[in-house]
Formats: sequence, C-alpha cells, structure tokens
Amino acid sequence: MNVNQMKKQAAWAALDYIHPGTIIGVGTGTTVFYFIEALKTVKHLISGAVSSSHASTLLLERQGIKVFNIQYFSSLNIYVDSADEINHCMQMIKGGGAALTREKILATMAKTFLCIIDQSKLVDILGKFPLPIEIIPISFSYIFKEIIKIGGLPKHRKHVITDNGNIIIDVYNLTVKDPISMEKKINSLPGVVTVGLFAYRTADITLIGQENRIKIINNKKI
Ligand code: 5RP
Repeated sequence: MNVNQMKKQAAWAALDYIHPGTIIGVGTGTTVFYFIEALKTVKHLISGAVSSSHASTLLLERQGIKVFNIQYFSSLNIYVDSADEINHCMQMIKGGGAALTREKILATMAKTFLCIIDQSKLVDILGKFPLPIEIIPISFSYIFKEIIKIGGLPKHRKHVITDNGNIIIDVYNLTVKDPISMEKKINSLPGVVTVGLFAYRTADITLIGQENRIKIINNKKI
C-alpha cells in the first residue's frame, strides 16, 4: 500500500466513531479529504459539520454536508483531523495546510480529538517536519529573531495568507524534546497567533493506516 492508500484507510475507519445526530468537527488536508468522501456516505445520519478551513468547507458543501459557523459553538462531540507528525504521547506538529489556528480551536473544544494518519507520521521526537507558526505580519522580524535564539531556522511560507489574514513561518532545525514547554514559550511571543505544536491538546484516539490494517491508539478508552 502507498501512503495515500494508508491515509484513505485511516479516514474511512474514522466513520466508526461518528454518532448519529451530531455535528462533526472537520480538519484540513489530504487525509481529511478522504474523510470528507467517507462522511458523504453517512451524511443523512449526521446534523452537519464545522470546518477548520475555507478549503474543507468547500469540500463539505460540495458533498451536500451542511457547514455551521464555528463562532456559535463552545463544544463539540468529536473533531477529526490529521497531523504532520505525531509522537508516542500523541503530541503533534500540525499546520502543513496553514489551518493550524482553527484546527487548534476545534481540537480544544472537542470532547474527542480523533487523529487519522498514515504510519509515516509517527515519530519518536517531533521536529523533523518544520514547525508552522501563524503570526501577525508586523511581528515578522521580531519573531524571526526570537526563533533563532531558541535554535530554530525560520522561513517565511511565501504566497500564503491564512484564513485569518495572517502569515506563516516554518521553523526548521528543531528537535522538540519538551513539546509542552516549547508550545508555552512560542505562544508567549507577542505577535504569535498560534504555534502548530499540539502538546497540551493531544489526540484522544489515533487511527494509524498501516499495510492492510489499522492500528488504534486509544488514550480515552471509549
Ligand atoms: C493542516 C494540517 C494537516 O492535518 C496536516 O498538514 C496533515 O496533512 P495531510 O493529511 O495532507 O498529510 O495540520 O493544517
């Protein structure tokens, strides 16, 4: 099986966790694209979705799934999304698709964060994938300086404006040995909107697409 087949396998397995009559939180990216295709087959059973990006909203609506405005929700039963990297504590790097801020809001308000990945995303230490940070444009030079101080190599993600009107920097050269303190440190820099480290809000359940099987890591025991 190739990576896309493994992503698809994990995405379809997520349907087992969808309860009738609920509103589903939906992430962003290629794995989620497969999940939206799967969700279409049960759209008559669910009440609709809230989405982490304009891109996912368009895909959901194209499948005939009603999308509600996040602004009216303070909690969700489930949020389904992927990750760029995930460690064995279920802490993640996210934001490869630049949707990290809305993703973190939805993941945090959800009772269950269901992460769907192919096996290549599972790592021992986070940081090989460049860490995305959404920042307010005027803070650019200051944030660059601060990131270099902690040993990172920041690069501006060219031609990308987030759904919130901000810019993204990708930080290379990091070995994230203590994800919680790094999330805290980067979050505390003025100008940072969201860091793509999900160390506080880890996944509750992770479905890992492997060769012809799904590995399930369930930290929530539901
Ligand atoms: C988007 C994300 C995605 O979950 C992450 O980039 C994984 O994407 P893909 O499913 O395409 O591998 O965080 O902001």
